[in-house]
Amino acid sequence: MEIDLSGALMSQYKRAKREYEIAKGKKNESIAKKKALECAKLLREMAKYDKYGEKRYLEKAKKWELVANNIGVVFNPPKANKSKPKTSRSSNKTDSKIKGDEVENEIDKFKNFVRNNLIEKSNIKWEDIGGLEWVKKLMMETIVISALQRPASIQPWKGILLFGPPGTGKTLLASACAGSLEATFFNVKASSVTSKYYGESSKIVSALYEVARELHPSIVFIDEIDALTTKRSEGVSEASRRMLSTLLTELDGFQDKGSDRLVLTLAATNTPWDLDEAVLSRFSRRIYIPLPDKGATKEIIKINTKGLELNINLDEISERCVERYYSGRDLKNLCQGAIWNMIRDVNKDLYKMANLSYKELRRRKLKTRPLTDDDFEGAFKKIKSPLTKSEIEKYEKWGEEFGG
Ligand SMILES: Nc1ncnc2c1ncn2[C@@H]1O[C@H](COP(=O)(O)OP(=O)(O)OP(=O)(O)O)[C@@H](O)[C@H]1O
Ligand SMILES: [Mg+2]
Repeated sequence: MEIDLSGALMSQYKRAKREYEIAKGKKNESIAKKKALECAKLLREMAKYDKYGEKRYLEKAKKWELVANNIGVVFNPPKANKSKPKTSRSSNKTDSKIKGDEVENEIDKFKNFVRNNLIEKSNIKWEDIGGLEWVKKLMMETIVISALQRPASIQPWKGILLFGPPGTGKTLLASACAGSLEATFFNVKASSVTSKYYGESSKIVSALYEVARELHPSIVFIDEIDALTTKRSEGVSEASRRMLSTLLTELDGFQDKGSDRLVLTLAATNTPWDLDEAVLSRFSRRIYIPLPDKGATKEIIKINTKGLELNINLDEISERCVERYYSGRDLKNLCQGAIWNMIRDVNKDLYKMANLSYKELRRRKLKTRPLTDDDFEGAFKKIKSPLTKSEIEKYEKWGEEFGG
């Protein structure tokens, strides 16, 4: 039987709120922050007991988390030369004129940007991914450890680097992590943030982690992390350098700022050899996401032909795919090609139906039949992997030296 604790929680909440006000009056940052977080935690608890008020409690909890995260800034506004945006019209203001609420507005601006542009909904589940069993297991373990009550010395991985050839499921894995947890999923392509928001990219990263902590559990996925690294020969822009240094600071500091909240950073790259030491050291787990082997290939083909019968020699087809260095993306395209061949075969003159009204089309059904080796044969001709043996060996060699 469930026991209703909402009354007791409410009085604890009121007490914490009073204590927060007192600490605020005394400008005692650490106690104010602690009390604000306590308020948020109690509200989240209360949300569990009141199904009608759940949304309201959670919204209030988020506000308290925002207060807690911004306490340092509000109590001690940073000096203007650090915080003032390059584009700001207030450039003629002196340092001392920068006020707490202005700083808050700027933080809010970037946080709103993050909320509106970098959060994605993920419906991907682990079973949507073929093969990669041990990677999936490691990620599930990381998530479980971070959620369980545990001694302080046991910390889950904060950053995991996924490296490997294009189309092998790196983005898919990150989405599955978020989808399985119902976590907030932040999808950030490093190069597009630096190119579109040049001077502001490092502030976007700070805001990103603040929002990620507020909306925990969160998965922050940083795609093409190599775009930020300093090891590239063609040189890296000042914006990338600053974005990277903020990112590294966030990866270092997150534990202190909210160890009970899961904010897992997953980064992906196709060119791990471009990453420098500073980046590698923050990602203590570096996982090779290889091309699918025969077993994984079979699974990926089944995933991508779901709902259709397979009248094929799956063993033989899979072997051919492995020999041709097909990635998961190639396999998806192969299946799509085979499906199209089948559709065209059993729905002759399909295009002629384009004359019919939408309403009429909705009444008719697309004919299908089991997929055959011939359907795949045609599709094979159109799909060529861009990879060579020596490129694959390069990944393997890097993995042996730096992976793990
Ligand atoms: N292991 C897999 N299981 C099922 N589908 C896969 C798998 N790997 C790739 N795919 C298919 O290929 C598509 C591309 O995969 P994904 O975007 O995850 O690759 P990636 O490794 O992130 O590639 P890139 O390095 O180019 O960003 C997926 O949307 C999915 O349809
Ligand atoms: Mg990707």
